[in-house]
Amino acid sequence: MEKLWKLLYEQCAQRWEERGLNKDPLWPEFKVRLDREFYRLAELLWRLYGNRPDFAYQVETIIAHVFQAFQARPEGLKERDRQYPPESAWFLSEQQVGAVAYVDRFAGTFRGLEKRIPYLKELGVTYLHLMPFFKSPEGENDGGYAVSSYRETNPALGTMEDLSHLAQTLAKEGIVLVADFIFNHTSDEHLWAQRAKAGEGKYQDFYWFFTDVGETEQYQKNLRDIFPEVRKGSFTYYGDLKRWVWTTFHSFQWDLNYRNPEVFDAMAGEMLFLANAGISILRLDAVAFVWKELGTPCENLPQAHTIIQAFQSVTRLAAPSLLFKSEAIVHPDDIQKYIDLRECQLSYNPLLMAELWEASATKEVRLLALSLRKRHSISEGCAWVNYVRCHDDIGWTFADEDAAELGIKGNDHRNFLNAFYMGQFPGSFSRGVSFQYNPTTGDRRICGSAASLAGIERALEEGSGTDLETAIRRLLLLYGVVFSAGGLPLLYLGDELGTLNRYEYQDDPDQANDSRWVHRPLWSDSAYKKRKDRSTVEGRVFAGIQKLSAIRRGHPVFGVPDLRVADARHPSVLAFHKQREGTLLTVVGNFSESPVRLPGPVVDSLLAGYNGRDLLTQTLVTSGEELLLPPAALLWILTETTDPRLPGPQMTRIDPS
Ligand code: GLC
Ligand code: GLC
Repeated sequence: MEKLWKLLYEQCAQRWEERGLNKDPLWPEFKVRLDREFYRLAELLWRLYGNRPDFAYQVETIIAHVFQAFQARPEGLKERDRQYPPESAWFLSEQQVGAVAYVDRFAGTFRGLEKRIPYLKELGVTYLHLMPFFKSPEGENDGGYAVSSYRETNPALGTMEDLSHLAQTLAKEGIVLVADFIFNHTSDEHLWAQRAKAGEGKYQDFYWFFTDVGETEQYQKNLRDIFPEVRKGSFTYYGDLKRWVWTTFHSFQWDLNYRNPEVFDAMAGEMLFLANAGISILRLDAVAFVWKELGTPCENLPQAHTIIQAFQSVTRLAAPSLLFKSEAIVHPDDIQKYIDLRECQLSYNPLLMAELWEASATKEVRLLALSLRKRHSISEGCAWVNYVRCHDDIGWTFADEDAAELGIKGNDHRNFLNAFYMGQFPGSFSRGVSFQYNPTTGDRRICGSAASLAGIERALEEGSGTDLETAIRRLLLLYGVVFSAGGLPLLYLGDELGTLNRYEYQDDPDQANDSRWVHRPLWSDSAYKKRKDRSTVEGRVFAGIQKLSAIRRGHPVFGVPDLRVADARHPSVLAFHKQREGTLLTVVGNFSESPVRLPGPVVDSLLAGYNGRDLLTQTLVTSGEELLLPPAALLWILTETTDPRLPGPQMTRIDPS
């Protein structure tokens, strides 16, 4: 093959010369990168488009466009490219703390957001994901996930200049900006879609158009409905066009057709535009769905990986510091496959998220511990983005085969969890809301804010002071695992103030059909003002989250990506270790609503024979002595020894004060 790529390179080089690219003063710098990257990119594109007679032309065009993006890249960002290549794995550092918010709901506008930077700093935030802020259809637009232009912002939030200004201001404060790259689909109002609707064949080829309903039915056989309460099937009929269009999500979200290299080329352009606007990390939305193949479920196909890797290769040419975070809410085996230094360096960790809630409901940590043992370790230099809640629903995405190892039946267990989180199970502490019940399959997902799911809402309305105390601890326990598991913790802004479900979404016709709005918080001045008042829920949760963040940033051991599950010999108690040289961190979480006593010998084995200090309460934990864990307690026990080979004999004494 090597010979073939060499020939291809020469052929392309000739065309670039004809275009005069080699005369550009920036070309030599670009060429150094191209010489490194060309074979890889060509090989990836070959896998997608190698069967086309115009393959060489397509490669040459794509790269010429990438060069234009490189020319347009601001100097400040080129400096970032030099300082932070993906291999630097800066995102693994204990200093990194993520947060996510809707611009309008959190701060009104981009300019308004700049005023909230001090608040973000109170929480130690260094990574800010802003939910889709692009031009979108009026009314229903899937929370911005139907994009009408990747180069224009929603005018209500401000302009592209405001966005770049914000990116620069954040950068000065040490906060990177993260945005969505919604590359599986555009809205039906995107210019490409409009031109397709107007009958232009070129743009109809950007999407999946069918004249024959039979053909759509062939595909449909293997597809799942993502929003079954909204509509059945993955295709939308346009009467005036006499055509069906592929629409995996809503009918106004048209799936792009990556079998067409022009789509790859155009979307690479949009991607680099965002990079040049100052976005440091792109959250790759709905990665699983981007390639379609008849007779398959059209999810997680090998070509989906090839497309992402090819985009990744393009970034190495024009914006090498740009990172990808994958959003794959799929089987855990499939999630792992997107995580690689040459694909997505970061990935949501929906498994940890779901199982933290699972363990809270069952008061048993066995499934959580099994997953951590089996599935927590990922490609070197990559990181999980660990979270408790996000803007989407909770799907119970654990592997049925993992559950079966423990004698748990996957679907029965999912039904239990749904009932539990909807508050329909005896003893449930939760106030969740059903999402997308599918009567055919019995599937359902759960919505609700972290505080409402963790029991704060119910405790405030009908519980005792003890219930409230436990609910607050439970919320902090989940966040405590997320802040210590390894990878980047992601705070869903609003959770730090214990924001409850917001049922008013039902009164808004654009939101009423989508219960995810129940947990999309609105900034509240009164909650904000209470954040320092420890007599309020807001103040207690805020202080708790702030502490998790501050302690994490104070101890490099939190930056260790891997963990080792330990056996606390109690069904409700999760324990794991992280170790960095002579420092051992023992994380202990009690998922029960009752206090648990860990006997002396268990404590001794957990601490490897050393004494330690709980960083959260500053109390001494003595090896060999019984340890009492309050309901929903979290401990971060730090042990320091002068002996780098833990367990070892000596230990520096820790002053308990
Ligand atoms: C992602 C988003 C979700 C959206 C979907 C379609 O999964 O997180 O909110 O509905 O993509 O874009
Ligand atoms: C499905 C999709 C995921 C999306 C979610 C929205 O789980 O796999 O991409 O975020 O639906 O509810």
